[in-house]
Amino acid sequence: MSLIYTTPSRQFPTGVSLSLQRRLALIDYAARTHSWIIEDDYDSELRYGAAPLPSLQSLDGSGRLIYTGTFSKVLFPSLRLGYVVVPDALLDQFIELKHLSDDHLPLVDQATLALFLESGAFYSHIRRCRREYAARHALFLDLFARSDLPLTFEHSDGGMNVVGFLPDGSDDAAWSRRLQEEGFDVPSLSHYAIEPTRPGLVFGFTAFPADRLRAEFKRIRPILEKLAKVHRR
Ligand SMILES: Cc1ncc(COP(=O)(O)O)c(C=O)c1O
Repeated sequence: MSLIYTTPSRQFPTGVSLSLQRRLALIDYAARTHSWIIEDDYDSELRYGAAPLPSLQSLDGSGRLIYTGTFSKVLFPSLRLGYVVVPDALLDQFIELKHLSDDHLPLVDQATLALFLESGAFYSHIRRCRREYAARHALFLDLFARSDLPLTFEHSDGGMNVVGFLPDGSDDAAWSRRLQEEGFDVPSLSHYAIEPTRPGLVFGFTAFPADRLRAEFKRIRPILEKLAKVHRR
């Protein structure tokens, strides 16, 4: 028996999502090996292109799925509210665990959130975020596409960040450090990796309105061009 933790909607930071075939294979594996799966569906509300694939939880018929979500992305992280949907077989253990780990979560925040959900305002908020973020996402990718910068954006249909892959052999940590010196907080892919990985940079885009994105792109472009030249030498 084992415990599998997975983010099938969208791996952070690469943005890759698990295909339907691999979702079904994972569920089958869990059933065969009597394993539990924790599905961390932390930002599935933010999809800008095609409709998302069905969650593992909705595909699972074996009751081995523990589904978690959070309000950190669609509301704000300091709210510290999330949720977990557990199979009946684990309910008592989870209630006990919850008591052991933290008995007193902020009631006022939860009650306020409940009202926000019941009123329907939460859903219009998500629709508005999705519309605005989709526009920022498209603009961000368009700015890069119109340049001749050697960054490629491969897995980009949602979320709050996009990865620009760098030419093979680039030292992404050095790129990131140089950008930091100029005031850009753009972590490298290697920063998140346990094993050597393709070099890349992780850009956030949702916090910036269109004007700001355009202005900052103007500023970052020459820095990236210089870094790319150093790389070619
Ligand atoms: C993979 C993953 N799961 C969950 C979360 C949300 O965590 P929390 O609800 O503790 O803010 C994040 C936040 O960035 C995340 O990257």
